[in-house]
Parts: sequence; structure tokens; C-alpha cells
Amino acid sequence: QQQAAESLYILNQFAQRYFSRVLKEDEEGQAVGMSYLEERGFNPAILEKFQIGYCKEDRKAFVTEALREQYNPELLVKSGLAAVRNDDLVDNYRGRIIFPVHNTNGKVLGFGARIIRKNDKAPKYINTPENEIYLKSRILYGMYFARQSVDKLDECLLVEGYTDVVSLHQAGIENVVASGGTSLTTDQIRLVRKYTDNLTIIYDGDAAGIKAALRGLDMALEEGLNVKLVLIPDKEDPDSYVNKVGAAAFRDFVSGNKKDFILFQLEVALKDAGNDSIKKATVVNQIAETLSRINKAEDFTRQQDYIRQCAGLLQIDEAGLIHLVNKFIR
Ligand code: GTP
Ligand code: MN
Ligand code: MN
Ligand code: MN
Ligand code: MN
Repeated sequence: QQQAAESLYILNQFAQRYFSRVLKEDEEGQAVGMSYLEERGFNPAILEKFQIGYCKEDRKAFVTEALREQYNPELLVKSGLAAVRNDDLVDNYRGRIIFPVHNTNGKVLGFGARIIRKNDKAPKYINTPENEIYLKSRILYGMYFARQSVDKLDECLLVEGYTDVVSLHQAGIENVVASGGTSLTTDQIRLVRKYTDNLTIIYDGDAAGIKAALRGLDMALEEGLNVKLVLIPDKEDPDSYVNKVGAAAFRDFVSGNKKDFILFQLEVALKDAGNDSIKKATVVNQIAETLSRINKAEDFTRQQDYIRQCAGLLQIDEAGLIHLVNKFIR
């Protein structure tokens, strides 16, 4: 187990260096990979910092190098760098941009590999499969590069994707990590909590983004995080938006549009319920349950604050809401 983990780290470091070299020095790496990244506005310094690379379109350019260096074929498959096709070992990330995924000490756990031109046949991203060191539910992309800034600013920004993290760094916003588009896990929240209690989720303002953000809420509350939400407008994501409006305007947007997560959730639900009294009763119950979860983190003052504000929004009696909240506390 320990030995498998160590071998994977060594192989991943070798691969990361190989893909970075290809991006910078290889003819195809420059013409295809680097052109694409330049077109998207990434500068050489940020590509260097995040150790971004490129995997050639060739069937097995990387595999050939790795086998020449005596890396074990089974390890190559386990790492996700290679796949078996017709009894042959081939590159798994052919023709893709390579985003290394680091642990908090900067060791490479695995990779996210983005296709250059989107199509219907292939997934946009291929990620490393679960193995001894790549445990998706424990990883937040970018934490190695973000942690100092998160600690200093006492706030962690959470975005969806690799490119959101890299673009925000390039814009000077460094306290940012990505969940990989899935909802947050307890382990990921605990990782954030090592550095700060303040989590700001910056997701797309579309329905999918809101839904994904809401899915992370209950867990984050139970773990005692203060959660704020910023929704990026009009089909943009943090990467495209910061490229569109620039670093200063992006910062202003974030600080001017931070919503308390619980109150936001309540606003959305209330708008949805309208004048329907049954729906409204459901909303009251739901918010009472959410508020009861704060109690688990033993933060009574915060809970009282919320009860006051929520009762106000709901136009109901504070004492009644307290009573209801207490019913959910086991
Ligand atoms: P760009 O299009 O390169 O800007 O990436 P993005 O991060 O904006 O992609 P998107 O918003 O579509 O997805 C957010 C995150 O979800 C990505 O960064 C990936 O981590 C993950 N993701 C997206 N597409 C796929 C996919 O096809 N397969 C897997 N496994 N993950 C994906
Ligand atoms: Mn703190
Ligand atoms: Mn999206
Ligand atoms: Mn996106
Ligand atoms: Mn994007």
C-alpha cells in the first residue's frame, strides 16, 4: 500500500515534468497546446506555477517514454496515465491539456485532462481514477497554491473548475480552490477548516450552479463553516467573467454580491412558494431544519441571529420559529 503510493507519486512527478516539457518545447505542444492556452488568456508564468502541460495526440508518446524509464505497466494503468487498448498500452490523455492535481505539500496526486476542441464523442475532462493517492472526495484542486492566501485573508473561495482557479490566480485572487463540479464532501470541508471558517462559494448563476451550491450547504453548516454565496451572471463562470471584466471589477463584484447562504436559500424558497400557504409551511419547516444544524456546531449566538433574520423574512413569530427549530434538534 505504502509502496504503491510512493511509486504513484514518483510516476506522477515524472509525468508532470514530461507534459510540461512537451507544452513548452515540443512542436505540437506549442502549436496546439500552447496556442490554445494563450488564446484563453493564460500567461506563461501562471502555466509554470500550476505546472500545466500537454499530452501529444500520438497513440503512446508518453507511455513509450515511461516504459523506457522502466516504469511498471500496471502502475501506468493504475495512475490513469495509460489505458489498455487491444492488448496495447496507450496514452489516456491524448491531445489534451494537462492540469496536475497537487496535495497540500505540492506532490502530484493525479491529473485533470481537458480536450482541446469540445465534441460529442469524448468527455471534456478526463480525471485520474481513484487509486491509493488520488482520493477524489478528499481533494480540493488548488489548495497547495491557495492555502497561504486562505490563511492570511481568513476566507476560502470555492469555484467549480480547474480553469476558474488558474484564471483567478492570474488575476491576483489566490485564496481559491475547486471542487471539480461535484458537491462538497465532509473531508473537503474539513480541509478548508484547517485554514479558515469562512467559505465563499462562487458558482454559475444558472439553475445547475445554484443546485450544486445548495447541495454543499448542510454539510458545511454541520462542520461549522460560515458559508457565503456569489452567483456569477449570464452564462459566465469565474474564469470567463474575470477575463471579460478584469481583476478589479471581478473583486468588486464578489464583495458586492456576497449573500449569506442560509438567507439566500430562504429567499429562493420563499419566492418559489409565493402565496401558497402549504408551500410556505414546507419552507418554514425546511429552514427550521437547516437552522437546527447550526446548533450541532454549538454556535448558539449565530443560530439566534439567523432565527431573528429568518423569522423576519418569513413574517412569522420568532418564538414560534425557535420552538420549531428545537423540534429538529436531537
Ligand atoms: P473550461 O471549459 O475549460 O473552462 O472548464 P470548466 O471548468 O469551465 O468546465 P465546466 O464548468 O464544464 O465543469 C466544471 C468542472 O467539472 C471541470 O473543471 C471538471 O473538474 C469537471 N468536469 C467538467 N466536464 C467533465 C467531464 O466531462 N468529466 C469529468 N469527469 N469531469 C468534468
Ligand atoms: Mn478563523
Ligand atoms: Mn456550469
Ligand atoms: Mn465552468
Ligand atoms: Mn470555464
